[in-house]
Amino acid sequence: MDTAGNSAASRDKAYLMHPMTNLKRHLEIEPTVVTGGKGIYVYDDTGKEYIEGLAGLWCTSLGFGEERLVEAAARQMRQLPYYHQFRGMGHHVGIDLAEKLLSIAPAGMSKVFFANSGSEANDTILKLIWYYNNALGRPQKKKVIARIKGYHGTTLAAASLSGLPHMHKAFDLPMPGILHTDCPHYYRFGKDGESEEEFATRMADSLEKMILEEGPDTVAAFFAEPIMGAGGVITPPKTYFEKVQAVLKKYDVLFVADEVICGFGRTGKMFATETYDLKPDFMTVAKALSSAYLPISGVMMSQEVFDGISKQSGEVGVLGHGFTYSGHPAAAAVALETLKIYEERDILGHIASISGRLQDGMRKFAGHPLVGEVRGIGLIGAIELVKDKATHESFDPKDGIGAFCQDRAQEHGLITRGMGDSLAFCPPLIITAAEIDEMLSRFGKALDDTAAMVDQKKLAKVA
Ligand SMILES: Cc1ncc(COP(=O)(O)O)c(C=O)c1O
Repeated sequence: MDTAGNSAASRDKAYLMHPMTNLKRHLEIEPTVVTGGKGIYVYDDTGKEYIEGLAGLWCTSLGFGEERLVEAAARQMRQLPYYHQFRGMGHHVGIDLAEKLLSIAPAGMSKVFFANSGSEANDTILKLIWYYNNALGRPQKKKVIARIKGYHGTTLAAASLSGLPHMHKAFDLPMPGILHTDCPHYYRFGKDGESEEEFATRMADSLEKMILEEGPDTVAAFFAEPIMGAGGVITPPKTYFEKVQAVLKKYDVLFVADEVICGFGRTGKMFATETYDLKPDFMTVAKALSSAYLPISGVMMSQEVFDGISKQSGEVGVLGHGFTYSGHPAAAAVALETLKIYEERDILGHIASISGRLQDGMRKFAGHPLVGEVRGIGLIGAIELVKDKATHESFDPKDGIGAFCQDRAQEHGLITRGMGDSLAFCPPLIITAAEIDEMLSRFGKALDDTAAMVDQKKLAKVA
């Protein structure tokens, strides 16, 4: 409450423009104001407890209240609260972080550029790809292909790369030269009688067709999340990336793996690039890099692309790109400490020991009358609700089934995210087996509430 007796929730309507919110509808509902957290739990201003089933925005990997990260930031703020890395300047913590990142990165990554968000990192990559192709004397090779339902951020280029209609509509996006190929969601887009491998072949063929139609000498790069996150936690169908990478190689198209959600253990390996045997030219990292305690992101690239960029900057005279807060010392210190904690606590071992609990636990809902598909790997997954299990028919978006289930989950003390009618799980990586059980139990109650509503409104036949 402020001195006039207004709650934070009612005050925010006067001052705050909430991202990714229906602002008109928002004026009619009270936002949930989060005031603190501990481990996988957060608390609102009424004291209600929630399991953060999405780790905030897929990011607070070490959960809430990790004192070592607080201390790392404080120590660095006392030592050197700010310095940049422009024009040959540097600081130890930024250099140490770059070294550390490359030491754990998949083979082939050679240099790191720091930014402050996933969007900035992806914008940076697009610029560097153009710069690189100019260096190679192929100024016409500039188009980029991303995917329908992909999510790469919200700045001009990152929103353009994203393949979600609400991110383009009325924003005059996507920018010219950014194209979208098919969404590789086998459950939703596979044809009758088509195997997963055949579907993957069709996806790769469709990408090849697009490259040929545009002209291979005009297509510079392909952007993909190893698992599509905000598009609905869509895991790649078997053999998809193998086939797609063969097409990219054939036409000399660079591959950008956006590891903003998947990086740092989420899929069971340190990077999903290893889980799916990817050979990217660029990798985007953010979120779990600092457990989201401070904003920092990174672009990792191969020596080959770095050499081209470096040649170009020699010709231009300077690499005309960078942010005031690129590799901010406090954020870099928190990131370094985060990576240290992952190692000391053997986060990959922990994930290996409990990911089955999440995946098996989610799959126990597969028989529920509303559940169409359960998908996921490691500590990420989604449960998709459908109107008709046999035909996979979706509910009418106007029925807002996913949003209803999300709201009911929140009522039962679980924060999850409904993306369409897919409900996502991406808890802090420190979650325990007992906490996974509790998270899924709260979800089960929300699912039953949803089934009751669907039944009552006769939106589908709930047995
Ligand atoms: C895969 C992916 N890339 C990029 C971004 C954008 O990151 P940011 O919100 O930090 O700009 C996100 C954000 O959720 C993401 O999931």
